[in-house]
Amino acid sequence: MDLETSRKWDEAARGYDLMNGFGPEWRWAPWKRRLFSEMSGRVLFLAIGTGQDIQFFPPGREIVGLDISARMLAVATTRAHAYEGSLELRRLDVHDLDYPDGSFDQVFTSCTFCSVPDPVGGLKAVRRVLKQGGTLGMFEHTRSRLFPFGVMLEVMTLLTRRFGPEMNRDTVTNVARAGFTNVRVEPVYLDVVKIIRAVGPG
Ligand SMILES: C[S@@+](CC[C@H](N)C(=O)[O-])C[C@H]1O[C@@H](n2cnc3c(N)ncnc32)[C@H](O)[C@@H]1O
Repeated sequence: MDLETSRKWDEAARGYDLMNGFGPEWRWAPWKRRLFSEMSGRVLFLAIGTGQDIQFFPPGREIVGLDISARMLAVATTRAHAYEGSLELRRLDVHDLDYPDGSFDQVFTSCTFCSVPDPVGGLKAVRRVLKQGGTLGMFEHTRSRLFPFGVMLEVMTLLTRRFGPEMNRDTVTNVARAGFTNVRVEPVYLDVVKIIRAVGPG
């Protein structure tokens, strides 16, 4: 367990719902609801944070929600209990996934690989626990090729990485570097916010 990262996100958990709970959730709700409606089989959700995404999960699914931060998970617990389906929460570092190979049909993420310290390593771990032909569905903000947003995100990252996410991650490339195939990108906002879909072990 990466204790430094865990502590950073425990700190962030204090004001997380206040910062993130209204504008962003309202704005991205239709995209998230549509992406998560694709959930089927045994699903791993990374990283569940305070559980704000649970409201967008379709009912009746079998989901394991992971996060490295105990404080995030403490807030998520009430939301998880209200979910009409099977939703198990676990404190786990994505780099230390303790599931056997091929344990899940699908993995979903939401603003996760802006925050995981070693994104390619984390994505390789995710790929390992996917079944043959299993799929990855991500709602992520990434670096942008558009001027001036790309430059702005680089500068913002100097500050944001100290207490939260990195704004300049090339997550689409990282997904391919981790060995996923058939990587498809659905743009959501300004080459920054994206839905990324990919296929795991062949
Ligand atoms: C920006 S927050 C997103 C939370 C949630 N998905 C949402 O959209 O509200 C990033 C989350 O990643 C988690 N995280 C960071 N590094 C992690 C790791 N190595 N393993 C598991 N979770 C991690 C943090 O604890 C935090 O909850």
